[in-house]
Amino acid sequence: MLTCYAFWALAHDQTNHGLAFPTDSLIVLVVSFSALIIQSNAQLSTTFYASTCPNVSTNVRSAVQQALQSDSRIGASLIRLHFHDCFVNGCDASILLDDSGSIQSEKNAAPNVNSARGFDVVDTIKSGVESSCPGVVSCADILALAAEASVSLSGGPSWNVPLGRRDSLNANQAGANTSIPTPFEGLTNITSKFSAVGLNTNDLVSLSGAHTFGRAQCRTFSNRLYNFSGTGNPDPTLNSTYLVTLQQTCPQSGSGSTLSNLDPTTPDGFDNDYFKNLQNNQGLLQSDQELFSTTGASTVSIVNSFSSNQSAFFESFAQSMINMGNISPLTGTSGEIRLDCKKVNGS
Ligand code: HEM
Ligand SMILES: *[C@@H]1O[C@H](CO)[C@@H](O)[C@H](O)[C@H]1NC(C)=O
Ligand SMILES: *[C@@H]1O[C@H](CO)[C@@H](O)[C@H](O)[C@H]1NC(C)=O
Ligand SMILES: *[C@@H]1O[C@H](CO)[C@@H](O)[C@H](O)[C@H]1NC(C)=O
Ligand SMILES: *[C@@H]1O[C@H](CO)[C@@H](O)[C@H](O)[C@H]1NC(C)=O
Ligand SMILES: *[C@@H]1O[C@H](CO)[C@@H](O)[C@H](O)[C@H]1NC(C)=O
Ligand SMILES: *[C@@H]1O[C@H](CO)[C@@H](O)[C@H](O)[C@H]1NC(C)=O
Repeated sequence: MLTCYAFWALAHDQTNHGLAFPTDSLIVLVVSFSALIIQSNAQLSTTFYASTCPNVSTNVRSAVQQALQSDSRIGASLIRLHFHDCFVNGCDASILLDDSGSIQSEKNAAPNVNSARGFDVVDTIKSGVESSCPGVVSCADILALAAEASVSLSGGPSWNVPLGRRDSLNANQAGANTSIPTPFEGLTNITSKFSAVGLNTNDLVSLSGAHTFGRAQCRTFSNRLYNFSGTGNPDPTLNSTYLVTLQQTCPQSGSGSTLSNLDPTTPDGFDNDYFKNLQNNQGLLQSDQELFSTTGASTVSIVNSFSSNQSAFFESFAQSMINMGNISPLTGTSGEIRLDCKKVNGS
């Protein structure tokens, strides 16, 4: 926005000679705007812990690798925690706080309750990091590092994680109820929820590609299987072969908590099969399939491009994870470095 304004000012000067500011003061204006832009992007740094905790990335990665040995789903669960953290008050580990005093935990918000998991693994990672570097590494940064490790250990891209986030002193359960997209809302609503945190359509499509691994409970998609939107029929965009499989996994009388793989092709691998599935009408959630099946939507060509070119997906995914990780971090002296991710220090 600032850049746009600066360019507008320059163009405006050219077409209104004599009336506008002198060119040199405009240059000062543009330079100081650029400095502002650079500063706001430089809040986080990939070398933030280079002198205070040089091994933190390696340590987090080893802990995630260890956890994956007994739970092939944990990488998926960990990246989802980072997502649900960042969409509520920014990436500040607010999702990790338990109920206590004035804190109404985000863990009990609609998108997280009986669904978000991996909190015990975050605690294990934090204990390890605290023993090497006491009081130095935030829980918010641990979530960002664990997300990257989960993706790269599952066959996906690696990236250097910008660091230096601090942890919140509060949670926002109401925000978690309203800011995190649900699988039942349309592409328009989901796009506005991404846009509200500064993420664009390309980010939406690439980040949705995280549904290339992990599981979803029947209750998150069973509305598509029998009586979709009161029509008496299944969602017409569902592949009929896939529909039969899903109806077997989620019978009408069955438990809503039964799990299904989000990616039926390679359930635990991080690859671009998610986008191929969408082209085959095998998106599990309504919100997944809409990226491809919404006529005229700008998401369709992005799905096609990621489906035909895994490198393009990986590159875009890494950048979009950095974009998501940049949502309103607490930096400098705001917030704190929590010693226990579940509670505010001294409480
Ligand atoms: C675009 C809007 C999104 C919607 C509507 C959505 C919705 C969901 C739902 C309903 C589930 C299943 C939860 C359950 O049954 O317990 C799920 C799982 C998951 N989501 Fe999303 N999601 C979205 C975007 C994202 C993003 C941006 C990421 C990460 C970058 C992500 C990563 C995951 C992962 C990895 C799982 C599997 C978790 C596990 O197995 O524990 N999702 N999502
Ligand atoms: C960091 O890890 C390397 C090997 O991975 C080890 O040699 C070194 O002692 C570790 N440094 C610290 C400060 O833990
Ligand atoms: C958030 O949603 C949950 C689950 O639907 C509900 O129990 C809780 O009261 C809501 N919290 C707020 C603050 O709106
Ligand atoms: C989409 O957003 C509108 C406006 O905020 C809201 O009224 C509607 O209930 C949302 N739709 C769904 C399915 O959540
Ligand atoms: C489907 O749902 C609608 C609206 O809830 C209901 O009126 C209708 O009876 C249902 N149809 C079947 C076949 O269950
Ligand atoms: C349904 O999925 C199968 C792969 O399992 C695919 O071959 C077929 O083309 C899909 N049908 C439609 C209509 O997308
Ligand atoms: C695939 O995407 C990568 C990364 O954007 C690009 O460099 C490459 O040219 C693309 N390959 C094809 C065949 O389009």
